[in-house]
Amino acid sequence: MQRSCRDVTNAWSETLQKNIALIGFMAVGKSAIGRTLAKKLRRRFVDLDRVIERAEGSKVREIFEHKGEAYFRQLEKQALADVLEENNQVIATGGGVILDDQNLQILREKALLIGLSAEMDVLLARAGDATKRPLLQGSNRREKIEILLRQRAARYAQAHVTIDTSNLTVDQVVKKIMGMLEVRKTVGCKP
Ligand code: S3P
Repeated sequence: MQRSCRDVTNAWSETLQKNIALIGFMAVGKSAIGRTLAKKLRRRFVDLDRVIERAEGSKVREIFEHKGEAYFRQLEKQALADVLEENNQVIATGGGVILDDQNLQILREKALLIGLSAEMDVLLARAGDATKRPLLQGSNRREKIEILLRQRAARYAQAHVTIDTSNLTVDQVVKKIMGMLEVRKTVGCKP
């Protein structure tokens, strides 16, 4: 049954306020896309890894090196909960934030969750030398990515919508997201 225009308008104004969170594998472009999207939507942009780095006073790479991944995941969980207290933001998450069930649940509740994906060769190219990414250090990067992607695929698939960014520029992805938001706004209703 078609919804009334008032219902649609209400749903849209909720969407307007709601956070938009980007999830997806390392180097897929979450930060660059998030920053540009936030500018277009005139929203605050939050990069979760930078929030963690500010709180801890050290770089993600150093946190992994000196305190380990489990410690980093605790910081990440706390930072995510704090950030999601606010509405109306565009949030770029770290690629592993979805490993925690509660993180995934509150992201789905408090944000429109947009998944970004890319083909392996594109991820490898975008990762560059990956010195800042502790989980991609050393040799056999392709194999490392394959293993992590296999472990995480079902979790990335929990996004409300997913965009394959392989052949798209940052601006093209942002345009696509803006188009999706527009479709949600104008979805048919019974006057
Ligand atoms: C991680 C991704 C990184 C960063 C940390 C762990 C992951 O963020 O949070 O190195 O587990 O995928 P990016 O996705 O921004 O590289």
